[in-house]
Amino acid sequence: MARISTNKNLHDANKAKRDEFYTQLSDIEKELKHYKEHFKDKVVLCNCDDPRVSNFFHYFSYNFENLGLKRLIATCYKNQNIDLFSEYNSEKAIYLEYNGDKNGDKIPNLEEIGINHLNGDGDFRSKECIELLKQADIVVTNPPFSLFRDYVAQLVEYDKKFVIIGNINAITYKEIFKLIKENKTWLGVNMGRGISGFIVPKHYELYGSEARIDSSGNRIVSTNNCLWLTNLDTAKRHEDLILYKKYTPLEYPKYDNYDAINVDKTKDIPMDYNGAIGVPITFLDKHNPEQFEIIKFRKGNDEKDLSINGKCPYFRIIIKNKKL
Ligand SMILES: C[S@@+](CC[C@H](N)C(=O)[O-])C[C@H]1O[C@@H](n2cnc3c(N)ncnc32)[C@H](O)[C@@H]1O
Repeated sequence: MARISTNKNLHDANKAKRDEFYTQLSDIEKELKHYKEHFKDKVVLCNCDDPRVSNFFHYFSYNFENLGLKRLIATCYKNQNIDLFSEYNSEKAIYLEYNGDKNGDKIPNLEEIGINHLNGDGDFRSKECIELLKQADIVVTNPPFSLFRDYVAQLVEYDKKFVIIGNINAITYKEIFKLIKENKTWLGVNMGRGISGFIVPKHYELYGSEARIDSSGNRIVSTNNCLWLTNLDTAKRHEDLILYKKYTPLEYPKYDNYDAINVDKTKDIPMDYNGAIGVPITFLDKHNPEQFEIIKFRKGNDEKDLSINGKCPYFRIIIKNKKL
């Protein structure tokens, strides 16, 4: 029993640790430049962000006029200290509102930013934060990893547009895959190494191929395992994947438990096969809903993992070419 509880504590600690990854301005700029036209006259909410330090708040406040925003709101969780990594020592939280430049210097000054107190701890699920959510058109942030399912469910419930960061594994959560399958959400532009790293607290060990301390002294880990998830349209989503290979039964065996051929690399999808095709989950980074239809995830007709001669390849998504 003691062992189980220790494991659980460790598990919770690991989860909480992954929640303290802060997004770099350069990664935000690299993604959000693809969505500029969506932001005109819109209210943007960053609801997992201490606005005094969040690079999301920084990006939107400095680009307020450039994007033509209507209003920017950011809420802070449990913390009133201007220190990125202080340990949530206050239960009370604040939210900030910015309505654009007033004094003509094109810079968000303290006098132009309204600081308001929340009654509770700033949990995105709290009533007062939901009231702010209702006022928003587009939600943009990197939410806590451990609450990702709840976070997305709430955005869907309130019918919000969003651009958020998640772990690549999130695609395999059944709730998230369902949204992708139904074309209610899709992958943004950058994923994996396309997100260059996250700022972590001082006591974190640095890891990853691009781990570094940047010129401002920020400690950066390169996780290479995240993606952007959105329901705002991007040009990338309308680009056809160019296919080169021809189907042969020898090169593309069928699964034991589903009438579909197996493809190990997205680029090897045969151009001339009009039945069901199993592809790796990374296919979703190239998915154009006008070209392919997503049919099923991972399981065969018997609801067991897809297998070939009794062996299971990695997770597969079943798709079908709509253009044949
Ligand atoms: C992965 S960090 C990202 C922070 C910031 N959005 C960024 O990208 O730099 C997730 C943040 O969510 C905050 N957080 C954790 N639980 C929360 C909750 N229930 N409601 C709102 N924010 C929460 C954490 O304090 C942490 O700052």
